[in-house]
Amino acid sequence: MKIAIGCDHGGFEHKCAISEHLNNRGFEVIDCGIYEKVSVDYPDIAVKVAEKITDKTCELGILVCGTGIGMSMAANKVKGIRAAACSDHFSAKYTRLHNDANILCLGGRVIGIGTALELVDLFVDTPFEGGRHINRVQKISNIEK
Ligand code: RB5
Repeated sequence: MKIAIGCDHGGFEHKCAISEHLNNRGFEVIDCGIYEKVSVDYPDIAVKVAEKITDKTCELGILVCGTGIGMSMAANKVKGIRAAACSDHFSAKYTRLHNDANILCLGGRVIGIGTALELVDLFVDTPFEGGRHINRVQKISNIEK
């Protein structure tokens, strides 16, 4: 599976650790930046990762900013993106099972790197449950039309 990843200055250390972790697990990681800890505007990175999903280069994406919230707001403006800002294990798992989320957004100033890696593992390892959730996710897409 190919996974796109990106961050701003609020999530740089987390992004480096997540990228290394996913590489060690055998995933192909497409790093959309930033590549050094400089101040940037998170929407610029959110769009880069989101477009890797919508152009089908990658199946899933990970975005890290200070809170995870700005990244999720920006990514969710891209048609076809379902980005979820998560800080706990239950949400990271169920946003895949029930929402078919395709981007996980994390807060580098909210959770530690250890928790972030656990949430990433849950996110990438959990499939969409389908069934009754298909229609609900379709209704989200309908809002974009
Ligand atoms: C950057 O200072 C910070 O605003 C950003 O990382 C993020 O938390 C926005 O949601």
